[in-house]
Amino acid sequence: METKNKKLYIETLGCQMNKSDSERIAGIMSHFGYELSDEKNADFLIINTCSIRKLSEDKACSKLGAWSKRKKSGANIKIGICGCMAQREGENLLKKFPCLDLIFGTHNIYELPELLKMQDKVCAVRKDYTGEKEFNIIRNKNINAWLPIMEGCNNFCTYCIVPYTRGRERSRTMDVILSEAKNIINSGFKEITLLGQNVDSYGKDITGKPLFAELLEKLDNLEGNFRIRFTTSYPVDITDDVIKVVKNGTKICECFHIPMQSGNDRILKAMNRRYNVYEYSEVVKKIKHEIQNVTVTSDFIAGFPGETEEEFKDTINAIKTLELDYSNTAAYSPRPNTPAAKMTDKFIPDDVKKRRLFELNETVKESSFNSNKKYVGKTLEVLVEKEKNQDGVRNLEGRLRNNKVVHFKSNKYNIGDFVNIKLIKASAWCLFGEEV
Ligand code: SAH
Ligand code: SF4
Ligand code: F3S
Repeated sequence: METKNKKLYIETLGCQMNKSDSERIAGIMSHFGYELSDEKNADFLIINTCSIRKLSEDKACSKLGAWSKRKKSGANIKIGICGCMAQREGENLLKKFPCLDLIFGTHNIYELPELLKMQDKVCAVRKDYTGEKEFNIIRNKNINAWLPIMEGCNNFCTYCIVPYTRGRERSRTMDVILSEAKNIINSGFKEITLLGQNVDSYGKDITGKPLFAELLEKLDNLEGNFRIRFTTSYPVDITDDVIKVVKNGTKICECFHIPMQSGNDRILKAMNRRYNVYEYSEVVKKIKHEIQNVTVTSDFIAGFPGETEEEFKDTINAIKTLELDYSNTAAYSPRPNTPAAKMTDKFIPDDVKKRRLFELNETVKESSFNSNKKYVGKTLEVLVEKEKNQDGVRNLEGRLRNNKVVHFKSNKYNIGDFVNIKLIKASAWCLFGEEV
């Protein structure tokens, strides 16, 4: 084959879904003789892009700029772009980056075999999802595996680009998911993270309409010693059955990522989120009441168009009163053709957004520290994921079932072990423990 033993480099920006896609792209390309290599030695360079904020797209552009320069100065390389920005911009990207050899969107990863056979520049960005085919997957880690269960979004929050880059919600069948899960476990992985823009929507679009709770239960019943996580949950779509399965399951970890976005009802409405602060609080309370040692994490946006100082303060208060364990934060970034991006007369000045983001981060740090402190004195199971040797001492790092990071010293345990650790100290972002 012409492409035998060629070297591939994939740079992945964005969310876990993109990381998972890159593992699948690497798998498909391995059938064409491409093996993964570092950036310097690669013959084919691909950037898997994210459009969630302007900054993410700027990062991709600067990388493409650097690669184009290399190519212009004679390097014998091919350059490709995929992911959300490719899906959004398609052929337009060729105007900005004439050096591009391959453009494909989130909807047509599985067309890669055909695309790779073509000699000329290829732009293949389809509006419709072209379906998945079976290929091996070259996973990046060996303890934690991503497992997409659904993709796309039907919610159209007014600030968000995802429905335009990932398309409408599409679920994979239970059979496909269960068989991929079995492969993952048989390959020695210790943790599976189920991925979807809205995992609670799982099954609504496929025959038999299986529920997310049913899928969780089936996965929990698979044999083996491993953990199951899932992300992301949409606040008011989390059912009592899901809470029950997380509570009673032995493998499903006690951890919910439920983005709230704002702690103010008027802003939530302007964002087209389908809940108010009271409804969100009820979900969090129910979960925290039902499940021991559970964590609830969230996402927040600072400076949505029209957000007043008081409305912003409501967000700060929500993080505190709901005792959220950790939150991702971002300053609002207008995304092309989304409804919020048209509210230009209500845009919040950059310096105000920056200051609000800073305050938000301070609050998150405090809430995370408060949450971590609650675990000091407890003995809980840690899955060891990393090790570092320092002056002859082995420092191990792992996570609790509720996703909190724990550091401890040990000569006994190794990566992949489940260990009971006594937690003795908390910092803002992690816990420290010792063997019992
Ligand atoms: N499906 C998930 C989140 C997907 S995007 C959900 O429903 O919440 C991940 C996070 O990026 C969002 O939770 C939001 O906080 C943030 N985000 C999305 N669009 C953004 C924008 N235009 N500006 C700033 N942050 C944004
Ligand atoms: Fe974006 Fe909203 Fe869909 Fe999440 S639910 S992906 S924030 S549109
Ligand atoms: Fe970014 Fe696309 Fe994920 S926009 S956050 S890579 S779904």
